Amino acid sequence: MSRDRSNKRVARGSTLYSGKASELKKRRLERLTSKTEREKNNKYIKPATNPIILKKIPDEQTIDVIVNFLSKNGIQIKDYKRNYIIRRLRARVTRKSFSTYREYYNLLTKDKDELEILKKSLSINVTRFFRNKDTFAFVRKEVLPKVVEKAKNNKIHIWSAGSAVGAEAYSISMMMSDLTQNYTIQGSDIKDELLELARGALYDTGYIAEMTNAEKNKYFDSLDSKTVKVKPSIKNKVSFNKLDLLKDKYPKNMDIIFCRNVLIYFERSSQKKIIDGFVNSLKPGGFLVLGRTESIFSIKTLPSLTSFDGRHRVYRKKDF
Ligand SMILES: C[S@@+](CC[C@H](N)C(=O)[O-])C[C@H]1O[C@@H](n2cnc3c(N)ncnc32)[C@H](O)[C@@H]1O
Repeated sequence: MSRDRSNKRVARGSTLYSGKASELKKRRLERLTSKTEREKNNKYIKPATNPIILKKIPDEQTIDVIVNFLSKNGIQIKDYKRNYIIRRLRARVTRKSFSTYREYYNLLTKDKDELEILKKSLSINVTRFFRNKDTFAFVRKEVLPKVVEKAKNNKIHIWSAGSAVGAEAYSISMMMSDLTQNYTIQGSDIKDELLELARGALYDTGYIAEMTNAEKNKYFDSLDSKTVKVKPSIKNKVSFNKLDLLKDKYPKNMDIIFCRNVLIYFERSSQKKIIDGFVNSLKPGGFLVLGRTESIFSIKTLPSLTSFDGRHRVYRKKDF
């Protein structure tokens, strides 16, 4: 995250590092240098002098301890897939040249910088406009016209759940604006800092790499060579609010829900809870669009949902 000339926050890069400039510089150095002076002088825990290869089998007990410790420090990952957590932890343990997760845990409890680095490495913010272009093209051609036709003169309600910095919600608004003005889009995320960026609608040009020049000119104002702003007519149709998909109440009467690249991080029981919530949230005949690597594992257990397109992971609630 950085600021443009008018001192507004700009989403930079498709993986976000947020914080003060001085902290960002410090973290960047941390990422670039294999053994920083700080590491060498770390007064708490010295890396093993002759580190043995980290055991392939993770130390489950210590991983539980770390997950609980993170949860007490405001980092809620209990519902994330175990393998995802282990992969991220293993990368940090290896990076620190420890041979056990326990040593790494000891460091984590004492070193706030490391806690911050782990928090970033566990976060899942990657997004961009029209991510998986062909899915958006499919939705534009096969889904949106059906929704517009069915709505007649009623307002169309769309939800981008897990919206990160808002690129997905605004991409949908761009497509909808070509069909009708009678729509509203709600983006939601669990993270305040992402919601703030989404509301600002300022982006680094890296976020729009998948768009043609004609599309860029149509939907964005260019602020400088690196920064674009979503045009007011597109932006004004979208609002953002904080919503934890595992705890909070879902909005009702949705015509379409996009929840892309969010479910993959969760364990099955949590995925099921979220999908059940979406089914309740959709109007009869409403659509659910998931990410390209996500699917509803057992459509048989959800009799009110049908697969509309397997390749693009589009589902439809039956219209009884
Ligand atoms: C990888 S991004 C996906 C962004 C966008 N949907 C896309 O596909 O480009 C996943 C987003 O889900 C959000 N998220 C993670 N856990 C969540 C939860 N329990 N409730 C709501 N959002 C959550 C993250 O903060 C992150 O912004």
